[in-house]
Amino acid sequence: MTRKFVCNRADVPANGMRECDADGDLKVLVANAGNEYFACQAVCPHQDVALCEGLYDGAVLTCHQHLWQWDIRTGAPIGLAEAPLECYKVEVDNDSIFIVSPGTLDVGELFTGVAEKTLAEINALAKREEFPQGGTLYNISDPADDFFVLESGRVEFLIGRDDRTSPAGFMLRKGEVFGWAALLDSQPLRIAKATCLERSTLLRINGKQALKVLEADPASGYIVMRRLSSLIARYLAPSGAK
Ligand code: FES
Repeated sequence: MTRKFVCNRADVPANGMRECDADGDLKVLVANAGNEYFACQAVCPHQDVALCEGLYDGAVLTCHQHLWQWDIRTGAPIGLAEAPLECYKVEVDNDSIFIVSPGTLDVGELFTGVAEKTLAEINALAKREEFPQGGTLYNISDPADDFFVLESGRVEFLIGRDDRTSPAGFMLRKGEVFGWAALLDSQPLRIAKATCLERSTLLRINGKQALKVLEADPASGYIVMRRLSSLIARYLAPSGAK
């Protein structure tokens, strides 16, 4: 668990919102609703649009670009929205507002429900790495040895061949796993290029070592492999990437 200072109560208008930097390294949208405060991702999950430029009525947040909407209390999508908002637990201490985050792997879609001991062993394999804006994580046809978990920042995927590449068309949320070819025996090479759109922090985990941990706990391994097949179906079927 980490607690990060976001802003003071006075910084957020009554029934209004404000984009803040949590401890200077994570952009967060903070919204007031009566006596309560809520915090969520600052950028729309649809495209690269700042949510602070949208509309907020004290309960529902609307992105001005394509009118996706969310319940600010839960981040649940409303109406046209096709994806939820990532929300943060908020703590108010006197005049200060903080967000409290669980560890990155704990919230990772791939690892939810995995036994605590197994999760701890995979956590122990993870190496935290910082990449600058524009930094390349891997190129098409690179060996797929490691997979990554996004801790903060944004990563773009390019697919195609040589200089004829194009964006794969999706963005990741905190805790999302990518580069998962490293967990597949049949996919030894990268099929996309991954580049950081802004300064990003990632956990790098060796695929073969993680598989060994999962083989020792077949129940957890089954959970991860089921989720992995869903991820592949979701991302590869429409446009191909990762
Ligand atoms: S960019 Fe926000 S709804 Fe499309």
